[in-house]
Amino acid sequence: MSSVNHQFRLAARPMGLPKRSDFDYVEEPIRQPNPGEVLVRTLYLSLDPAMRGWMNEGKSYIPPVQIGEVMRAGGVGSVVASQHPNFKEGERVYGTLGVQEYATLDAKLLHKITDDRVPLPTYLGTLGMPGMTAYFGLLDIGQPKAGDTVVVSGAAGAVGTVVGQIAKIKGCRVVGIAGGKQKCDYLVQELGFDAAVDYKGDDVKKTLRSHCPKGVDVYFDNVGGEILDIALTQLARKARVIICGAISQYNSTSGVRGPANYMSLLVNRASMIGMVVFDYTDRFPEALREMAGWMASGQLKSREDIATGFETFPDTLLKLFKGENLGKLVLKVA
Ligand SMILES: NC(=O)c1ccc[n+]([C@@H]2O[C@H](COP(=O)([O-])OP(=O)(O)OC[C@H]3O[C@@H](n4cnc5c(N)ncnc54)[C@H](OP(=O)(O)O)[C@@H]3O)[C@@H](O)[C@H]2O)c1
Repeated sequence: MSSVNHQFRLAARPMGLPKRSDFDYVEEPIRQPNPGEVLVRTLYLSLDPAMRGWMNEGKSYIPPVQIGEVMRAGGVGSVVASQHPNFKEGERVYGTLGVQEYATLDAKLLHKITDDRVPLPTYLGTLGMPGMTAYFGLLDIGQPKAGDTVVVSGAAGAVGTVVGQIAKIKGCRVVGIAGGKQKCDYLVQELGFDAAVDYKGDDVKKTLRSHCPKGVDVYFDNVGGEILDIALTQLARKARVIICGAISQYNSTSGVRGPANYMSLLVNRASMIGMVVFDYTDRFPEALREMAGWMASGQLKSREDIATGFETFPDTLLKLFKGENLGKLVLKVA
């Protein structure tokens, strides 16, 4: 085992898209665990759009990463040394490991992975935080009924692919919005979406209307901005709009573009509700059981987009904002 740990620490709060110089690449000795702690070798890191928000100063649903702190990230890894009776060397775990090759953490912050049948990166995607977001955002807030029309933006990503597939399982008509023909073909041909809108090539309003002749009952929004505004014009009566994310706005240097068409909520007696996945942690086991069952029966497919090389972290993160990932973006570290 190596004796050094490489880390990316936040060096500056980015303006616009994060740059390599917003991070310090640091080398330090691996810290051995104290009583109650576990030393984990990072195998895969989860790269999430939310990381962009965590780099900003200011109040949010979670405190910002401080300047000089290891960049926050979820990850899966293997136990290298343990000073806690529940964890043994060689066991696989997930938790907030941070963007570093080794993490020494309080055992209470780690969860054991016991099912060998599922590939490890899936615990960062469909059976991880993005999958939980899709499950609770859609089912708890969206309340889809069979026959409803469900539209999801960011449809070919970690959350969006799962939202669409769960909506299909629930008997809904599903329309995805994604960038580019390859992603749209994937949604329809591989995941069984009823239709897809290529927001980079199609007239979004016209195409969405043609795919949703009875209006949109559930709109699951991952992108915000102009696409949210267009979706609001297509709502059916009593529609539910889930505000999950707004990736189109995360790197804006001129402020967040808010929805102009919100009066559609009044006209259609519709609701628009924000969700944060961490509010559902107590219920993750129930979701995991059901989703693992859907995966085993072939109703739910999981796709991970795996980049390699710890040192590539700052550039690989940008794939999310350039639309270069298909499925869950994961960085293979070891
Ligand atoms: N509320 C919560 O608790 C929670 C939890 C997890 C994630 N989220 C949010 O859910 C959303 C999706 O996250 P994810 O992990 O599943 O990411 P993802 O969809 O796997 O990756 C991001 C995708 O966003 C799309 N995108 C990037 N810039 C865009 C733009 N300007 N306009 C439209 N689309 C753009 C790209 O796809 P295209 O090629 O299609 O453009 C890109 O592949 C994010 O907004 C994230 O912050 C929220």
